[in-house]
This record gives sequence, structure tokens and C-alpha cells, in this order.
Amino acid sequence: MWRPPRRLPRPLRRAAAGGPGRRLLLSTPIFYANGPPHIGHLYSALLADALLRHRRLRAAGPARLCTGTDEHGLKIQQAAAAAGTSPAELCERVSGLFRQALTQAGVAYTDFTRTSEPRHRRAVSHFWGALRDGGVLYKGSYEGWYCTPEESFLPESQLAEGTDAQGRPCKVSLETGHEVHWTKEENYMFRLSAFRDPLQNWLRDNPRAIFPDPFYQCVLRWLDEDLPDLSVSRERNRLQWGIPVPSDPTQTIYVWVDALVNYLSVVGYPESHGAWWPAVHHVVGKDILKFHALYWPALLLAAGLEPPERILVHSHWTVRGQKMSKSLGNVVDPSVCVGQYGVDGFRYFLLRQGVPERDCDYYDEKVVKLVNSELADALGGLMNRSTAPSINPSNTYPRFSEACFPKVLGSEEARGTGRACVEDYKLVAAVASLPAQVDSYFEGFQIYKALECIAQCVRQTNGFFQRHKPWKLDRRDAAEQLWLDTILHVTLECLRVYGTLLQPVVPHTADKLLSRLAVGPGERDLSGLTFLARYDGKPCPFEGRQLGPDTGILFHRLGKLETMKKRKQEAQVPDKQLL
Ligand code: MSP
Repeated sequence: MWRPPRRLPRPLRRAAAGGPGRRLLLSTPIFYANGPPHIGHLYSALLADALLRHRRLRAAGPARLCTGTDEHGLKIQQAAAAAGTSPAELCERVSGLFRQALTQAGVAYTDFTRTSEPRHRRAVSHFWGALRDGGVLYKGSYEGWYCTPEESFLPESQLAEGTDAQGRPCKVSLETGHEVHWTKEENYMFRLSAFRDPLQNWLRDNPRAIFPDPFYQCVLRWLDEDLPDLSVSRERNRLQWGIPVPSDPTQTIYVWVDALVNYLSVVGYPESHGAWWPAVHHVVGKDILKFHALYWPALLLAAGLEPPERILVHSHWTVRGQKMSKSLGNVVDPSVCVGQYGVDGFRYFLLRQGVPERDCDYYDEKVVKLVNSELADALGGLMNRSTAPSINPSNTYPRFSEACFPKVLGSEEARGTGRACVEDYKLVAAVASLPAQVDSYFEGFQIYKALECIAQCVRQTNGFFQRHKPWKLDRRDAAEQLWLDTILHVTLECLRVYGTLLQPVVPHTADKLLSRLAVGPGERDLSGLTFLARYDGKPCPFEGRQLGPDTGILFHRLGKLETMKKRKQEAQVPDKQLL
């Protein structure tokens, strides 16, 4: 009987990922090409995109973001038959829709893999060869309950009693409610059962490999349970739409093995993947955690490769409390949302409200409320008020007065001239620590918390502005003028920090804000981000600088839902209705 090594090779016991100068491959799952994109798909992609953009801002080393479409398998074969088209045609069309939806939402992917591409097929065939040569495949007769929408055999413990489309009793998947079918076939099996120890060792040595922690714990529990061998091929006469098993044309490679290898084929496996592998972070939804955290690392180890560095897991979006599904007719189309709320409005909503650890509920009113209050009113209002010609007629980055805002509250030197109060010092402290806080939230895959902190600081800054009412200060009085300038200087410094930190989430709005503040392209990354240098007695490169042109309102308030819904209907793309 074949046995894998009990301990992993040395390089696998590695430190926390993503250090400076290192390469990093970020991935989204590749999307099933059997139906159009919905907001759940977009959420996976936006998380990865925001991580990529944040990493670029940190100038942390070369990074790529790969995505694509998962085009093989029974599910696609059946969807094509039901649509009266060929699988190839269906995939061509749906793959285009995904590309379009991602691009429209500003997902800055660097690579898009279609599993039907020759370079990917070649990588999968080679990977199969590596498994076969490693002695981890055997042919066996397999029978069990197969769930086509999940493309997976399910054990009895994951089944429930349900009804089929005609109302007849049948067995269904406990998790998704989809009908399962008893399937008996000759298949190639993968010795997953032999990988319990290596997987446990990998996880023990890399406690941050699966994030957030509840998902890591969940995988550890799975490893304490039954770990049966995995069927990794289907009979060709049942499944023609897939990559044939090399040297056995009667079998087709299991779609999950095929799909997972996209993470390797994109970096040039089997020739040149070494430059990127295993510095990879996979962003995945919780429904596909088992495939990424058990099967994929085991397959990689069996093929002589290292498991991925990190797997970042998120939960699901429901719609008004219900699971999103075609049959309920409540699937939310991301391109319609982007049309309604704007690219940045919708990105902000999903990333601000989506909490990886738990499911989140979507409804239109929630988007309008959040985006209006945080982007349009709080952030946009602050920018407009602090740069308005009435308050800043010279249209410059005003000067800061240490006399008005001394380093120490109530200090002797500033007695009589100091104008700042306790809350103002709290604001400065909060904004000064914000970049590090945001950084650690991004590193911990808690983008929503990073945004929450920024929103809190924006609120504090509005409080500062409101408290001191700069519009009431008399410009003709030199002392008042000095304090007015200082208030504006502090406010613009805060805005500059928010604009910089928000770039990964709302790139267009951040650009507009930073351009208005005359922050040049080379001054927008996180490595050189300073805040209120003058408060620390250092020169501020922005002080006295001419502001950028006034390009109007930073973020337009979203209007009435009825008007937007009308726009939503008009935005329906006819191509999608065919699917
Ligand atoms: N094709 C597989 C992945 C293969 S990766 C080697 C697949 N595709 S999928 O299209 O069904 O799902 C893609 C991503 O969308 C997954 O991360 C999944 O969790 C996510 N979502 C699908 N529905 C979702 C929600 N309702 N909410 C949030 N994300 C969800 O699985």
C-alpha cells in the first residue's frame, strides 16, 4: 500500500506570507460557465481585487490576480443540452459575461483562464501524469450519490429527504437542497485517505493557512472524520465534455481536479510555475472550502508540489433573507447593480457589508442607505465643504499653525494661542494610527473592518469641522485666519489619508479625491504615507500647494429606489435572459 511522507519537506514550514519584495499570486475561484454572474461571484472577485490593489499600494512585490471560467463537467454539459446549444458555445457566451462583469466592476485581474484552453488542458494532463507516477491513483468501482450542481459525490451524512421537480420524494444534498442521483461507475480513485497526516502536519505548522480561524478549525475537524478516497474520473460515455484521462480514453478527468489545476496552469505549469508557486493566496467561498483545503493540498502533495500559502474564505450573500437561486428568481445581477449604484458605490457596499465569517443579507435599500451616508454625505460632504471656494478662496493646501494646534494640549508655549480641544487630539491620534490598522485588517482578511475604521475617522473629522465652524471665522483677523487655515489643513490631511487608504476599494472616488487635493501619482502609495507632518514639527510637502481643479461633487447621492429600479429593468442584457 502506498504511503505519503509523514512530515512535509522543510520549506513547507514557512512564516507568515506576503512580506516585502515577494511575489504573490492571488486567485478567485474560476466560475462555472453554466449561468450568468451574480453578486456572490462578484464578491469573491472583489475581495481578491481589493487585496491585490492594497498589496500594490504597499509596493510589496510583484503580484498577479488570476480568475477565469470553469467550463467542463456534467453540469455544463446538461446546461448546454437544456439551452439547445453546444457546451463550447455556451461556455464562450458565459465566459464573456463573466469577463464583462468583472471588468465592469473594476476587477483588475491580470490573468483569465478558460479551462477549455489548450494550455490548461496540457497542464491538467501533465498533472494527472504526476499523480499516476506518484502511485496515488488506482482504478476501482465506485458507487454513491452524485450531486451534479455541486459536481460532487456526497456521503449519507450530507443527504436529506426532499422532492424532485415533479414533487416526487427523492434524496437531496443537505447543504444545497439539490437532487442527488445514485451513480455506479468504474472510476480512477485518488488515495486521499493516505493524506490525513500530511494535511494535519501542514495545518499544524501553518496555523494561518486557512483564514478566518473558524474555517481553519472546521478543516481540522474534517480531518478528524472519515477521509474516504476520492473518485477523480467519470466514464467518458456519461461525460464527454472534459479532458480525457491520458492513456485511458474511456475516462474523463473529474471536473474539480481539472478546475483546481487552473491555479497552476496560469503560472506556466509544468515548465515555469516555480517562479510563483506556492506563493499563492486563494480567495474562496465557504461552499468550496473542502475542495481547496483538503483535496487540493492533498493533490498537490501527491504531485510533488507544496500546498498553497493561504486560503481566504468568505461566507455567502442571501437576498432578503433567502438563498439566491434561479428557481426563486432572486438572483442579483452585478452589472445591473453597478449600473444603479456606480462601480465604486457597489464595490464599497459589498466590501463594507460583507463579513467573511458570516452570511450577509442583500437588499437594495441597504445599499442606498450605506452609500449615501458614508460615501456621498460623510466623505463627499467633507471634501466639498473643506475645499469650497467660499471657505478656501485661494484654492491651496493651507498652512498649519503649531501655535493654534500645539503638540501638547495646553502647553506653556501655546498658552493663549492654542485653539484645539481634547477631541481634536483624539482625531489626530485616530488618523495617525489608521494606516497601520487598515494594513493589519487587510492582512487579516477583514476588509470590512478596515472600512469601518475609515468610516469612523471620517465621522470624527466631520465632527471636528462642525465643532470649529470655520465658515464663521473672520478672515480679516490674522489670528482667526491662522486657525481657519489650520482647521482646513488638518481636514485635508485627514482626507488625503482616507483617499489613499480607500484606493483598493473605491478606486475612482479615491482618485477624484486625491486629484482634488493635488496628490501626485507618486504620492499615493502606503509606504510613503505621512499624516500631519507639521504637527510633528516636520515639513509638509503639500502645504501651500495649489489644489487640483474642482471636478464637482465627489460622490452623487443615490436617488429614489423606484427610479433606480426602472433603470435596472432597462439595463437587463438580452443575452443573459437566454441563460
Ligand atoms: N467552479 C467552482 C470553483 C472552482 S475553483 C477551482 C465554483 N464556481 S461557482 O461559480 O459556483 O462559484 C464561484 C464563487 O462564487 C465561489 O467562491 C462561491 O463561494 C461564490 N459564491 C456563489 N454563490 C455565492 C453567494 N450567494 N454569496 C457569496 N459567494 C457565493 O464553485
